[in-house]
Amino acid sequence: MELVRLVYSSESTSLVDWPLLKDIFATAEENNASKDVSGILLNSGMVFLQVLEGDKAVVRDLYNEISQDPRHHDCQIHALERIDDRSFGSWKMRGFNIDKLDPEDQESIKARFCDDTGNLFIDRSKDSTLALIEAVEKVKLH
Ligand SMILES: Cc1cc2nc3c(=O)[nH]c(=O)nc-3n(C[C@H](O)[C@H](O)[C@H](O)COP(=O)(O)O)c2cc1C
Repeated sequence: MELVRLVYSSESTSLVDWPLLKDIFATAEENNASKDVSGILLNSGMVFLQVLEGDKAVVRDLYNEISQDPRHHDCQIHALERIDDRSFGSWKMRGFNIDKLDPEDQESIKARFCDDTGNLFIDRSKDSTLALIEAVEKVKLH
């Protein structure tokens, strides 16, 4: 199996509320488990950021399907790389709403990765994507 990690961001086509997130998170958690895809789906403001880790062909097909979902648009791939180990191996897929984090964690992540309106902001550089993943990994531990 060729293991890859794909990171993309997108913008919601409607205001992101809990019923919408719950629906997307539930589908992602269930489907990805059956495909041995791990990762994380982050939301803040109108922006989604998702990390998908798994077999190359499986991740490619899944991304093609997700990117056609009318609930979001402007999907941009920030990183697609071969990896030796998963960063989110213990999570089949975990939905994560930054607005729901502890105030302290929320503040530190937002200060680094969100713009003034609370939307996640990362440029296309691999470094900023990896920095965000690292910050989230730290927060997820408690
Ligand atoms: C931001 C976003 C992220 C999504 N992530 C996943 C995912 O990781 N896995 C998944 O199976 N579906 C995900 N979906 C939902 C898919 O686009 C699609 O609705 C899902 O595969 C169900 O398809 P089906 O109704 O044909 O079974 C996501 C949708 C959005 C808007």
